[in-house]
Amino acid sequence: MKDVAGKVAFITGAASGMGLGMTRAFTRVGMKVMMADIDARRLSAAAADLKAKGADVDTHHCDITVEKQVFDAAAATVKRFGKVNVLCNNAGVSVGGLSEELSQKDWDWVVAVNQTAVVYALRAFLPLMKGNGESGHVMATSSMAGLINAGAGWGAYNASKHAVVGMMEVLYSELKDTPIGVSLLCPGAVSTNILEAAKHRPDHFGKSDDRPIALNPIGDTLQNGLDPDVVGELVLDAILENQFYVFTDPGMERQIDRLFDRIKLGFAWARNNDHLKAAKQPGLVWRTK
Ligand SMILES: NC(=O)c1ccc[n+]([C@@H]2O[C@H](COP(=O)([O-])OP(=O)(O)OC[C@H]3O[C@@H](n4cnc5c(N)ncnc54)[C@H](O)[C@@H]3O)[C@@H](O)[C@H]2O)c1
Repeated sequence: MKDVAGKVAFITGAASGMGLGMTRAFTRVGMKVMMADIDARRLSAAAADLKAKGADVDTHHCDITVEKQVFDAAAATVKRFGKVNVLCNNAGVSVGGLSEELSQKDWDWVVAVNQTAVVYALRAFLPLMKGNGESGHVMATSSMAGLINAGAGWGAYNASKHAVVGMMEVLYSELKDTPIGVSLLCPGAVSTNILEAAKHRPDHFGKSDDRPIALNPIGDTLQNGLDPDVVGELVLDAILENQFYVFTDPGMERQIDRLFDRIKLGFAWARNNDHLKAAKQPGLVWRTK
């Protein structure tokens, strides 16, 4: 998108952290924002503050794990602002525990917010965005944990964030020849309220047994993390420059190198495997745009 003034954005998790940072950055350049969040109190306080500063924002209190609420949010955005151009799938949660020890409801909650809600939003918003004939942009907040192995106790979070990477990679191919761009935000540590994620757990996903969001203590790392307002400006830059991969901590590139090294070891192992050496291969080449 080259010209964003007057364009309309819908942002999930807009009451706090990076979603609020995006709202601040977008409204700074004259965009209108429908702020969506499950935390009604924080949502109305954040919107009141922005409105007092002249921003054109409105709020939609919703639980994005409920399909109908996401579709209602899309309708409410169009009703309020006439259209929607930018979709930010940003809300996310985590709960820490070994893969076999997390309850099924722990897994279901994390996957519902981080992954399935993105599917709901793509189905609810993309047809509207395509239909308005204007340029637009879809972004999703994954994580560095969507690319690398975040470590023991991160199973549900890692899995859901990897899924977001896959969905956005494919969406990038699907929208390549349209006026709608795609970005994938993979933050490192950012100083937000995500440690309080359990407070936003809907009743239908049961209690969290007061599990932390990760097994290893990450509170200090997050506290010293990047300012979420900087991430908001970064996302705006990515939309304006149509940048797909959006990293917040360039120093984490080393961890990607380590992952690729491990993957390449797997190919080296396969090349030396006697069963594969003797087998006929179709030589499949996946062509992606
Ligand atoms: N903070 C970090 O270091 C970090 C790093 C990598 C990725 N992320 C990702 O960044 C995104 C934003 O998180 P943040 O760090 O700004 O945290 P945050 O807790 O400050 O903001 C997340 C917002 O999502 C909302 N939310 C949670 N469940 C919801 C639901 N069911 N329906 C609607 N809204 C819901 C919360 O109320 C909250 O306002 C998440 O996807 C998170 O996984 C965070």
